[in-house]
Amino acid sequence: MLTTTLLDPILTFLPNTTPQAWLDEAIKPENLPLLLTDHLMCELKAAQTAMLLLRRYAVDKDSSQALLEWLKPFEDFAYRKVGDGDLSTKITLSKKLISRSNFEHGDELIAKMVLLIKEELHHFGQVLEIMQSRNIPYDNIPASRYARSLMQHVRTHEPAKLTDTLICGAFIEARSCERFAAIAPNLDEELNKFYVSLLRSEARHFSDYLGLAQLVSKEDITERVAYFRAIEGQLIVTDDPDFRFHSGVPIQLAVA
Ligand SMILES: [Fe+2]
Ligand SMILES: [Fe+2]
Repeated sequence: MLTTTLLDPILTFLPNTTPQAWLDEAIKPENLPLLLTDHLMCELKAAQTAMLLLRRYAVDKDSSQALLEWLKPFEDFAYRKVGDGDLSTKITLSKKLISRSNFEHGDELIAKMVLLIKEELHHFGQVLEIMQSRNIPYDNIPASRYARSLMQHVRTHEPAKLTDTLICGAFIEARSCERFAAIAPNLDEELNKFYVSLLRSEARHFSDYLGLAQLVSKEDITERVAYFRAIEGQLIVTDDPDFRFHSGVPIQLAVA
């Protein structure tokens, strides 16, 4: 089955599967607006992370500016509520990005990250369309601890910083993919189809990040992957006060 082939490498890579307590919370109809809003923001953040990597490491000055302009309408909508969110004509970057001469793996990074940004922006539009069709108003909500806590462990010197950031990217994409697959069968038909449709691209994002991490690292990354795997596993199985797409075990708040 397609889903099994896509998911096998993801499940092998991740330290654990989503706890039942998170799933129980995720399928409650009253949590759907929160889940979709967080998902929407995750798509934008995924695009921003890739853009940051390109601007920090790979592209020249003009290309860096073109990247900022590419994401600006999406950020304007998400953070400043500018426009109605119909950004379907803006998901493609018209300018060809030029790699910096002093970064060895610029072309590989550009090729993979530009495709990733385009796909994340497309997903952003898809989530927003679903929200709008269900009259779920968009309001910016703060992220959970997940990505921030992973990134806290990124080393600060290069090229280790880049390697670790790419490994974190692989975990975030892999966990998204695992969670999409886990909740899909528990949702209504439209959402079920939508989440299954996302699996292929998220699985590729995972393997692209992991491949790039090994490419830019001078050393074998196995140990570093294991280090982040342990941290990621803890973020998933420990109590988490904020319920979001990548959160840990939901804390049941006592009813007064
Ligand atoms: Fe995505
Ligand atoms: Fe992704």
